[in-house]
Amino acid sequence: MATDTGDPLPRFPAGFLWGVSTSAHQIEGAAELRGPSVWDVFTAEPGRVKDGSTAAVACDHYHRYPEDVALLAGLGVNAYRFSVSWPRVASPGGLDFYDRLVDELCAAGVRPVPTLFHWDLPAGLDWLERDTAARFADHVTVVADRLGDRVTKWITLNEPAEHTLLGHALGAHAPGRRLLFDALPVAHHQLLAHGLAVRALRAAGARDIGIANSHGPTWPASADPDDVAAAGFYDTLLNRLFAEPVLLGAYPDGLGELMPGDVAADLRVIAEPLDWYGVNYYAPTRVGAPLGTRSEFGGLAIPAELPFSVREIGGRALTDFGWPVVPEGLTELLCGFRDRYGDRLPPIVITENGCSYEGLDDQERIAYLDAHLRALHAALEAGVDVRGYFVWSLLDNFEWAEGYARRFGLVHVDHDTLERTPKASYRWFRDVLRAQG
Ligand code: BGC
Repeated sequence: MATDTGDPLPRFPAGFLWGVSTSAHQIEGAAELRGPSVWDVFTAEPGRVKDGSTAAVACDHYHRYPEDVALLAGLGVNAYRFSVSWPRVASPGGLDFYDRLVDELCAAGVRPVPTLFHWDLPAGLDWLERDTAARFADHVTVVADRLGDRVTKWITLNEPAEHTLLGHALGAHAPGRRLLFDALPVAHHQLLAHGLAVRALRAAGARDIGIANSHGPTWPASADPDDVAAAGFYDTLLNRLFAEPVLLGAYPDGLGELMPGDVAADLRVIAEPLDWYGVNYYAPTRVGAPLGTRSEFGGLAIPAELPFSVREIGGRALTDFGWPVVPEGLTELLCGFRDRYGDRLPPIVITENGCSYEGLDDQERIAYLDAHLRALHAALEAGVDVRGYFVWSLLDNFEWAEGYARRFGLVHVDHDTLERTPKASYRWFRDVLRAQG
């Protein structure tokens, strides 16, 4: 893997947002104080989460948020991306928690950047139903009315691509459906929810709104036309299906014909102009023609009946999750987006980037983050308008279907005692932020 060269990082522009990201279900705990989400239902089903764990306690951030905000302040970030749990907001006293958290952040000089949906849909709601989009907009209004006097920067959805693919097409995440391409309405309804949320936020006075979509370069397994076509299809699913309705007001490659409802009217809502576009980047994917058997990526089984297979990238260090470490993929991705969308692309914020490794002396994480920041700077130098960078994640947390087995945090969490211990990467990032001023 690329290693930390020891050279100081290049300077990022003044006013750059430096942050870390988390999500409600992965850290909050205090599940008994809110209604259940689809993730609570899913984790209760035997065999769904690899280590059999649940997020009932998680990092107990709900009770320990002052300690976690102190960790943020000690790190020196100027922004913190967290998510607001819809089932908590819908429960008595739930919004009070976010009120307290936002106050604590403001007092510490850390800008709150809430995500309004990070996969923890209230149990009983369903993205196959169009009405869920309208219900989401109501949730957004309630949150914005309460927090909008102190929160100025908002994120509508986190990674609707993963929530559709993993949760509804492949069944690896909640709600555990295996609909393959019949999951497409889930994509459309989330996109509609995004557009309605932008309108609701603007109606509440918000002026700084983005979405956090996951993206990564797609590399064909070979120059064989079948591999190239399969990679193009995968690229459409990952990089275009959730970007183009938002940025261009159109679905790519005739996918709009497969979507439910009055798609043309919906697209006008979905394409509400954004103030910035959030990119979550972890790794590229190497994709080839179907193999007739299932393929695998970082522990995820890709069924044989899909029109592509995922192949090993090879020759790269792997994180503990089995994801290849490819920092220059971030430069390629951002320059590719700039070339593809031109002036339709608003300023970019990297809303997630990080890696899972064990240990407190996490030199691999430092090397990973160092190399990705250099790759990000290369994109800036190539003329891409990037305004911020958030590390995933502040704390070791509940990593969805992997349970507590994957550790993405700058801060180690002992999942028995809940004790927090900053890792070497926390001190490294703190020094980076100090040097950036
Ligand atoms: C998600 C996070 C997740 C991280 C690492 C992203 O897909 O937004 O919730 O923990 O990646 O898997």
